[in-house]
Amino acid sequence: EMDRFITDLMAKMSLDEKIGQLNLVSVGFDVTGPIVSENVDENIKRGNVGGVFNTYTPIAVRKLQELAVNSSRHKIPLIFGYDVIHGHRTIFPIPLGLSASWDLQAIERSARIAAEEATADGLNWVFSPMVDIARDARWGRIAEGAGEDPFLGSRIAEAMVQGYQLDNMKDPNTVMACVKHFALYGAAEAGRDYGTVDMSMQRMFNEFMPPYKAALDAGAGSVMTSFNEINGVPATGNRWLMTELLREQWGFDGFVVTDYTAINEMIAHGVGNESEVAALALKAGVDMDMVGELFLKELKANVERGTVTEEEINTACRRVLEAKYKLGLFEDPFRYINEERGKTAMLTKEHREAAREIARKSMVLLKNDKNTLPLKSSGSIALIGPLARNQRDLIGNWSGAGDWKQAVSVEQGIRNVMGNKVKINYAKGANLTDDAQMIRRLNAHGGELELDKRSSEAMIKEAVQAARNSDVIVAVVGESQGMSGEAASRADIGLPGQQLVLLKALKQTGKPLVIVLMNGRPLTLPWEHENANAILETWFAGTEAGNAIADVLFGSYNPSGKLTVTFPRHVGQVPIFYNAKNTGRPFNGEELNKYTSRYMDVPNEPLYPFGHGLSYTSFTYSKPKLSKASMTAGESLEVSVEVRNTGNYDGEEVVQLYVQDVVGSITRPVKELKGFQKIMLKKGESRTVTFKLTADDLKFYNNQMEYVYEPGEFKVYVGTSSSELQEAGFRLN
Ligand code: IFM
Repeated sequence: EMDRFITDLMAKMSLDEKIGQLNLVSVGFDVTGPIVSENVDENIKRGNVGGVFNTYTPIAVRKLQELAVNSSRHKIPLIFGYDVIHGHRTIFPIPLGLSASWDLQAIERSARIAAEEATADGLNWVFSPMVDIARDARWGRIAEGAGEDPFLGSRIAEAMVQGYQLDNMKDPNTVMACVKHFALYGAAEAGRDYGTVDMSMQRMFNEFMPPYKAALDAGAGSVMTSFNEINGVPATGNRWLMTELLREQWGFDGFVVTDYTAINEMIAHGVGNESEVAALALKAGVDMDMVGELFLKELKANVERGTVTEEEINTACRRVLEAKYKLGLFEDPFRYINEERGKTAMLTKEHREAAREIARKSMVLLKNDKNTLPLKSSGSIALIGPLARNQRDLIGNWSGAGDWKQAVSVEQGIRNVMGNKVKINYAKGANLTDDAQMIRRLNAHGGELELDKRSSEAMIKEAVQAARNSDVIVAVVGESQGMSGEAASRADIGLPGQQLVLLKALKQTGKPLVIVLMNGRPLTLPWEHENANAILETWFAGTEAGNAIADVLFGSYNPSGKLTVTFPRHVGQVPIFYNAKNTGRPFNGEELNKYTSRYMDVPNEPLYPFGHGLSYTSFTYSKPKLSKASMTAGESLEVSVEVRNTGNYDGEEVVQLYVQDVVGSITRPVKELKGFQKIMLKKGESRTVTFKLTADDLKFYNNQMEYVYEPGEFKVYVGTSSSELQEAGFRLN
């Protein structure tokens, strides 16, 4: 039915009109590249526009949709996209934070609520999930993904697609997902954004590709290309990537949009002029050109010259029209435009409650000496730091339609939760940064830093005084939201500005020091780890940040998050990740044996490993038990472990299962996550957690790029983090 409808429609369309469907324009204010679309109204009327992004609210969307269906020749509706990344109006934690919940239901719920609010704003397409595996904390966009692990990343990708699309894209409460950035954007050399990627096929397919594939298998309707090159060919002009792999091998039947002006950027990559890169992108498998308008400008001449065929344009046009069909836009171009919902569906009590609950789940207790946390519900707190009263930064990067004024500050959150039971002595203590150049750049892009003009010494002095007058120090420090995200790579990933100097001065008072962190990447925190009594990682926790943080600080919620990225001790260890390979000369702790794989000046181990995260209670694990000592390929094997809550609080634990393939035809990682379960255990309670493994779980791409399992010895590890595990083993026959 869809095929016939589109065939009939395309039979009436001119070549120009078909090319018009391939053009995505930006109308609005969130611009992340140098070009902004022009003459949009005229172009829509002429049939030169297939979709619009950065326009939302029912009124604004209706205006453009009316232009398309009333004034263009074939009345083809527009598709409306937006960067709905971690919530739309109600903002959830940044994706890296969401992933740290290891709670797939909570993550799916965040996407569901985002879709409800986005559709109430007239949108039907979101540029999410971002599933790029990232192992380099310098890369600012590590904030936007689910961290370093392909298994966890895949499960999260599926949950998000499900939350957005609900297996029914026609539902006016669902949006089409867009998996990005295809592919390997997170592997940019030296962590510098847009950087080169050069990678073996084995690493690519074993470690980086799984989440894209998982999102597509979950039904994601569209894919966005990435800005980087891959092994010498820019992703946006990469036929192997977008046609051979994506379409032919993976069977993807949705449409591919470029990233912002990514076709034009291939000129700077050095693969052709305007006309050539337009042809290159189309022939490689791109269907829609985001903002750059090179398809519009160059494709027709390419057809006339014979460098592009009309058939190739038909293919792309068909895919764009199919997306609109799947969204139900031909039946009713206005199905997502509902002024009433626009007024009632946003930032509802229910959405805010969900945001608070999910934010609490995303927080990771990195350190907690002698039960410093939770705090007492009495006495006085020195609430110090540039993020303690801050609202602006809490909703994090890519929160386009989010309103930071709706965000609950930490100070307000403590008041909401504690009332007047605790006394707060506030001092800002330091600015987020003092780097004039960084400040200028952040301010030029909506980062708007709230700067205190006083000298650093005066601010610290005031903070120290507040600390002296209080029982405990809660220092809320970190990055501004603009220091992570796109084009926000950092070479030094410690606390910026004078914040460490501030912490050192606070430590001198001898008062217990609790550090509450907000940041979009792993930070290097060696001094902080040595000297703080407790450290709580809260990322940028969204609209309900302050309430959620207060819930955790005072113990009405027991933290349960676990890191999904490794926190290095020193930036020189980067890239550092848990599922690494061994070397021929592993360092085994023999200090004087020089010729082993290690640094002379820092340990090999990270400060906080993947999977790390403490609780106010304690859990003990039994040794893992295997249902059999060996299995054949057709069988499955059960791994079970008894987990007991041995502390004083009810709490959730993420039970993690890792596997090591001891001998392989190619070298295999020291361990790989193959399962996890987040369970709730009451104080004193214990439970047996069971995982099932089959030979399929042991597959990998070998040297010939065959996806195989190999008989032999396997180790199984179960525990509370990637570095606190108990071992068992089996044989695959
Ligand atoms: O979706 C984004 C992408 O992640 C980065 N470049 C711009 C796109 C659209 O805003």
